Amino acid sequence: MDFKKSDTVDTPIRVLQITDFHLFEAPHQTLMGVDTQKSFETVLGWAREDEWPPDLVLATGDLAQDGGEKTYRRLQSNFASFMVPTYWIPGNHDNPTIMQDTLIGGQVSADKRVKLGAWQIILLDSTVFGNVHGELCESELKKLDDWLTELPDKYAMVCLHHHPIAMGSDWIEPIGLKNSEDLFVVLDRHPQVKALVWGHVHQKLAQQRNGVKLLSSPSTCFQFKPHSSDFTVDTALPGYRRLDLYADGRIETRVERLEDYDLSLDPNSPGY
Ligand SMILES: [Fe+2]
Repeated sequence: MDFKKSDTVDTPIRVLQITDFHLFEAPHQTLMGVDTQKSFETVLGWAREDEWPPDLVLATGDLAQDGGEKTYRRLQSNFASFMVPTYWIPGNHDNPTIMQDTLIGGQVSADKRVKLGAWQIILLDSTVFGNVHGELCESELKKLDDWLTELPDKYAMVCLHHHPIAMGSDWIEPIGLKNSEDLFVVLDRHPQVKALVWGHVHQKLAQQRNGVKLLSSPSTCFQFKPHSSDFTVDTALPGYRRLDLYADGRIETRVERLEDYDLSLDPNSPGY
């Protein structure tokens, strides 16, 4: 999809990344004690009140915990009421087939490529059916390479669900992207790529590799404690990532979190 947006150096394209909602068919079912629908809607409302109206929303997977059609229909109406062009990719908990049929229409698009101003954004499906870890199949890698080759003069941001680098937590490493080297081989061929963004890890991280920002973001429900050997839930509050994409290729980004929100987190409850 093509967007028209004034792309002077001083007027960035504003991208809201929001991720890992883990919603259920039953609207107020909890996970780790957290009402995931309520926390998602609160984060979305928080973003709406932010003095930073986004030009588009990227939802980077695990939008549903149960992959149910009702869940995605309700989410579609949540997105519709946000009134901002919205793009999505599936995570390991999602059902990509149902998403394709339900998360579409109005401002919500199943397109995986967005061209806007000096930028293109490419969304990749890293899910492997029935598995928690991720992998980019040949066709996803080829699509990425083709789209970057077609538009060498546009800066690029690439999104996927799974982490392509080590996060520093022993339990998280095995559930990341299995073939990161294949991804980086493609990215290294295209110097216009400026950012690689993912969800899945329920925590923020910002690194740099060969001029590419590597960014993960908090979940809209509970967070995982960084640098933990075993699965550990963090008390950090839910949030989202803001990305300002400038016409000269610069990116400014930061994470925003809810304040004074009672998650009712129960770290000992089974479920995740
Ligand atoms: Fe995930």
